[in-house]
Amino acid sequence: MPTARHLTVTEVFDLVRSDLQKVEEELAQQTLSSVQPVAEIGQYLQASGGKRLRPALLLLSSKFCGYEGAAAIRLAAAMELIHTATLVHDDVIDKAETRRGRPSINHRWGNHLSVLAGDWLYMQAFGIALGERNFKILDLLIGLTQAMVEGELLQLNGLGKASTTEDEYFDLAYRKTACLFSACLRVGALLGSRSEEEEGALGAYGINLGLAFQLVDDILDFTSSEAKLGKPVGSDLRAGKATLPLIYLLRRLRAEEADRVARAFERGDFQPAAFSEILELAERSGALTEARQRALELARDAKRCLEGFPESQDKDTLLSLPDFIVERES
Ligand code: IPE
Ligand code: IPE
Ligand code: MG
Ligand code: MG
Repeated sequence: MPTARHLTVTEVFDLVRSDLQKVEEELAQQTLSSVQPVAEIGQYLQASGGKRLRPALLLLSSKFCGYEGAAAIRLAAAMELIHTATLVHDDVIDKAETRRGRPSINHRWGNHLSVLAGDWLYMQAFGIALGERNFKILDLLIGLTQAMVEGELLQLNGLGKASTTEDEYFDLAYRKTACLFSACLRVGALLGSRSEEEEGALGAYGINLGLAFQLVDDILDFTSSEAKLGKPVGSDLRAGKATLPLIYLLRRLRAEEADRVARAFERGDFQPAAFSEILELAERSGALTEARQRALELARDAKRCLEGFPESQDKDTLLSLPDFIVERES
């Protein structure tokens, strides 16, 4: 097998740069409302940006599948709107104060308006999807939105549960993140009228990519900084979210020490000193290294899903993505 030429993040985004610009225009249109607070929030969200990873995935998948029409732009915007709606609701649930380096919507406008704004954004997204008159795509979007809401519910139920298993963790990561990534890939395949088998392979690639992305996000919550992430670090532990680094840490510690950490986690007892202690334990015990290894495995699994496709430049592009998802620092 010839070795693929790996692209940099910038090179990958450059491939869809002009389409992403059109997605921005579509988003600007779609967040217009004649009702004042919604219009204001819409503008604020648009200006806050974000990595626009999901639209990029949808566009790259469409391109890979030989489709370059305007529906890809509209649906890429719909995916970003769904993502944004989940973030707006998620920040209410998590009582987040910062998102994308700025005050979060709930922090600025309060919970009531945030819930309504999130609902409104979901409906804008579904309005776009409905406009395509494609039941398969609508079906996909409805299923994924439900899975994401269920993910938030399951997460709420499991807060503070130190006995969370690795399987439970990955089920949540699937719902919260990977199913949306996967849908972006699948929509590309549907637009390109690819076979179910090919759609499935791209979807599976998206799942692995999304799981890796969420896992790296959870690792960064331990190891990064607010300046890099645009949101505070240590917030998962403080909020009682048992993410994979903690699960691995609890497995590696001796019984009494594991018990002590588990109790502190369950009490939500995370003063800055306690957080740095856990961070240090996670580094020293090898739990973070193990979590990073797991992310690398997921990246490899993602690439493996594309084995059945013939070699091409567009395939090399998709093969480049898992590595920089795993290497990302923000
Ligand atoms: C944040 O997603 C939510 C997670 C899945 C961890 P992103 O990190 O892609 O958020 P933006 O859109 O770039 O702000
Ligand atoms: C983000 O989940 C929301 C979804 C992916 C649905 P988290 O609560 O884990 O992510 P951040 O840390 O707020 O971005
Ligand atoms: Mg959150
Ligand atoms: Mg998080």
